[in-house]
Amino acid sequence: MKTLDYNTIDLSKEPPVKEPERQYYFIAKAKKYVMEKSKEAGRPLTFCVVTFGCQMNARDSEKLTGILEQIGYREETQEELADFVIYNTCTVRENANQRVYGRLGQLNRAKKQNPHMLIGLCGCMMQETEVVEKLKKSYRFVDLIFGTHNIYKFAELITTRMESQRMVIDIWKDTDKIVEDLPSERKYSFKSGVNIMFGCNNFCSYCIVPYVRGRERSRSPKDIIREIEHLVADGVVEIMLLGQNVNSYGKNLDVPMSFAELLQNIERIDGLERIRFMTSHPKDLSDDLIEVMKHSKKICRHLHLPVQSGSTNVLNKMNRRYTKEHYLNLVDKIRAAVPDISLTTDIIVGFPGETDDDFEETMDVVKKVRFDSAFTFIYSKRTGTPAAVIKDQVPQDVVKERFNRLLKEVQQISSEECSVYTDTVQEVLVEGINDHDSTLMTGRMSNNMLVHFPGDDRLIGKIIQVELKQCKGFYYLGERIKE
Ligand code: 5AD
Ligand code: SF4
Repeated sequence: MKTLDYNTIDLSKEPPVKEPERQYYFIAKAKKYVMEKSKEAGRPLTFCVVTFGCQMNARDSEKLTGILEQIGYREETQEELADFVIYNTCTVRENANQRVYGRLGQLNRAKKQNPHMLIGLCGCMMQETEVVEKLKKSYRFVDLIFGTHNIYKFAELITTRMESQRMVIDIWKDTDKIVEDLPSERKYSFKSGVNIMFGCNNFCSYCIVPYVRGRERSRSPKDIIREIEHLVADGVVEIMLLGQNVNSYGKNLDVPMSFAELLQNIERIDGLERIRFMTSHPKDLSDDLIEVMKHSKKICRHLHLPVQSGSTNVLNKMNRRYTKEHYLNLVDKIRAAVPDISLTTDIIVGFPGETDDDFEETMDVVKKVRFDSAFTFIYSKRTGTPAAVIKDQVPQDVVKERFNRLLKEVQQISSEECSVYTDTVQEVLVEGINDHDSTLMTGRMSNNMLVHFPGDDRLIGKIIQVELKQCKGFYYLGERIKE
């Protein structure tokens, strides 16, 4: 990341056309407006970034925070008190949208008390035309609306809003652009997400992501490696490579490179200790990748491999392009190569046309694979996706009954699987002070499980040895082994 003195930018000139220089110009300009606003208020201005949804959004929120800090918003505070509130939204399921509307209503009340407050909305939900129409009609107090493709323009859009005093809306249908070298503010000093690709080309029939995140675009390996090297120089020891489908990384590059090759290059970065990645699609997970994972000293012992359904019939209707047998074989191959791997998954219950027999196939996969943990979702109809127009929707009471049965099974297996490491010593990355007991620290094991143990905050960001004394279902209590 370039460190730049925005004060040296000449604002009397026209903004540059080229990125990221254009955004540096608007950061400088927005900074001027924020300073004026702050003088008017007689205090430093505050902000609040609210993140809904996935890891991808969490990473985007760090970019939003980076820009807000660069333009002069000082400290992050509670939503009702902040001078700039931005919701980075998710739309993967309908209830996520409802939550945003509910919270916006409350925020409007807070805005009436604070004349300096600006409200921004961005992310996946904003890519839906009906959402923006509704906001334009019934939520006039919102100041700024943009989508997933132009988040890099945040400073420019804030400037436009400050100059126009009107609701600013900028939504792009799609993009092939990736803008590098913009500021971002990490939530953790020792770990970071790193985008390796954007968008998705899979078009699973239930999923809205390809419509709101656009077509697949990979960042160049050079840019990715450079970013990680900078992060490591800045104290990062663990990275999470992010993409909707990391296994199809590199296909659209000028010089194609596979995800397995990218991982090998990243492994060579000195000082980097741990590599995670998310999300893998079972149809694309290659033997090469399994081989790389087997020999890697840095790739964590955790794989999130969404199965979605255990029924080949449903998988077919979901356009997942693998069968139940393919998935089970894949799990066997991975476990043979990396025996201590922790496997987690996503499952959807109640996809249109799901029969009792189909559901039993899902239960069968759960019992056979014995996932370390699973996120279970009730199918949510997303307008615009092919599944939304399938006539055969499953009645709610049937879905509920299946969902509860699945959840019980998943939790039972998960608590049994999670306890197998009791009395072993594990390497953990210390992430912070325990939320409930400040004498305890919380660390993350390679397999993504958490362990709480007595210690102090000087350990944060260090990788240490902890003996796991007691399993508490989904986490452990332990003790540090002194070296
Ligand atoms: N309904 C329910 N769950 C969904 N997911 C994606 N789309 C839907 C939908 N329409 C789930 C999938 C995916 C996870 C991120 O969200 O399981 O893996
Ligand atoms: Fe993430 Fe998907 Fe939600 Fe977008 S819709 S924020 S990609 S989970």
